[in-house]
Amino acid sequence: MAPRNRIVTDRPNFRVETVTGGADVAGVLADLHATCFAQSAQETWSENTIATLLRAPGNVGAIAVAPHGGAIGFIIGRAIGDEGEVLTLCVSPTARRQGIATALIVKLRELLAPRQRLLLEVAVNNQGARKLYLRLGFDEVGRRPGYYKRGGKSVDALVLANG
Ligand SMILES: CC(C)(COP(=O)(O)OP(=O)(O)OC[C@H]1O[C@@H](n2cnc3c(N)ncnc32)[C@H](O)[C@@H]1OP(=O)(O)O)[C@@H](O)C(=O)NCCC(=O)NCCS
Repeated sequence: MAPRNRIVTDRPNFRVETVTGGADVAGVLADLHATCFAQSAQETWSENTIATLLRAPGNVGAIAVAPHGGAIGFIIGRAIGDEGEVLTLCVSPTARRQGIATALIVKLRELLAPRQRLLLEVAVNNQGARKLYLRLGFDEVGRRPGYYKRGGKSVDALVLANG
């Protein structure tokens, strides 16, 4: 039985694993990122970008893995002083609304401990993600006009923080 004080991030339909290294999983994560952000104001990230981020000192990552072993979501974050920042978070369109993003954020907080405060940016028109963060206790602490630029359009980012 799991110890009572352990944060349990595993669910029957997925498990959450810490990313170690970088380059070996970066290609898979780049494909997932492109699929997840296909309709988004946010740019998609290349394999090289993801590998570089995963290797950078202070950065951490976690992957949600389906029972068949495929990656169905991931998160990358970084430590900045006594705070943490979510650099990216995405879940496969076929695996959404099962608590995977929530579990990935729980895992990120675990990896960035003892930091409690997390910051992130979200496109103002990304209603699904905004609802997720609202539910997880994030509040708006700033706005970056025209932060996301894609396909000739620009969209503001909201800066959110928990606590
Ligand atoms: C946003 C995203 C990460 C959410 O992933 P997810 O695994 O589906 O989220 P969860 O299952 O943990 O959602 C938890 C709660 O957040 C809210 N929520 C999440 N997605 C939502 C949506 N599309 N619409 C409304 N509420 C939503 C709900 O309250 C949900 O609980 P419920 O399913 O019991 O109603 C996913 O939709 C995604 O990858 N989107 C594209 C990439 C993206 O926008 N990333 C975030 C960039 S800042």
